[in-house]
Amino acid sequence: MPSNRFTQQYGPWAVVAGASEGIGAAFAHALAARGLNLVLVARRAPPLVALADELETQYKVSVQPLALDLGEPESVTELISVTSDREVGLLVWNAALSVMGPFLDQPLEAHQVELEVNVRSPMAAVHAFGNRMVARKRGGIILLSSLSGMQGTALVANYAATKAWNRVLAEGLWWELGKRGVDVLACVAGATDTPGYRANAPKPGTDGNVPVQSAGAVAAEALAALGKRPSIIAGRKNRVAAALLARLLPRRAAVRLMGHTMDRMYGEG
Ligand SMILES: NC(=O)c1ccc[n+]([C@@H]2O[C@H](COP(=O)([O-])OP(=O)(O)OC[C@H]3O[C@@H](n4cnc5c(N)ncnc54)[C@H](OP(=O)(O)O)[C@@H]3O)[C@@H](O)[C@H]2O)c1
Repeated sequence: MPSNRFTQQYGPWAVVAGASEGIGAAFAHALAARGLNLVLVARRAPPLVALADELETQYKVSVQPLALDLGEPESVTELISVTSDREVGLLVWNAALSVMGPFLDQPLEAHQVELEVNVRSPMAAVHAFGNRMVARKRGGIILLSSLSGMQGTALVANYAATKAWNRVLAEGLWWELGKRGVDVLACVAGATDTPGYRANAPKPGTDGNVPVQSAGAVAAEALAALGKRPSIIAGRKNRVAAALLARLLPRRAAVRLMGHTMDRMYGEG
């Protein structure tokens, strides 16, 4: 979509939740390059401020860094209030918490914060910004999902369930809100080279031929698909793997395969 049509449909402001690094920062770069002003949200202020300065200088757009912990229930209320005087035409919900390890070995509180960041907060944000966009009959919403959420996935069972929620919500809203002028997309990412991925890197020598994409490639594929379809799986090899798991294998075999793979890459021993 040419830049001026893009800003008409999705401008003048975009909110990127989880914007300071990784895929979120790649979205911020791509959106600033298309001429959108940005509200960038993450917990740590210094990387947000540095990115905001860089984007303002490079692309001559306005960028507001906003340090919020999206695991705190009131944070979305604050985000909505801070942006109440802006026309937000695009929401990218990229922030996520990924609790790794056996479900029962993690404290319940960790799983609950994961639900807050990955489900409850984006639901509140989609509801508020979605209503504002529908009133203007234009806008877009992108929710980040994961290949792990295409079926149950051991060692990230709750995270995978939250990512399934994001995909299914986005697909349902693609139809509901699409009729009212607002494009909704689930971006299903596979392994992507980000600080978050590196912090939870598989054990050396166990990742076999898992394809690892760049954050920029994931953001570019998502923006190209926005307004065209309800969801996209980023990366051709990931699309092939997802088709194999979902369409060729019985569900039990697909879940077992994921379980074996996760045990090998992240399990003990
Ligand atoms: N990387 C992958 O391999 C991969 C695969 C599949 C799906 N995904 C999805 O892609 C998205 C981004 O992943 P990523 O690897 O780029 O993540 P990342 O490198 O860990 O970056 C996450 C971003 O979100 C912010 N963030 C995290 N928790 C937050 C909180 N409680 N409140 C506010 N901001 C928060 C982080 O900044 P602060 O730390 O400063 O808060 C950072 O800017 C996620 O939704 C993830 O589920 C990633």
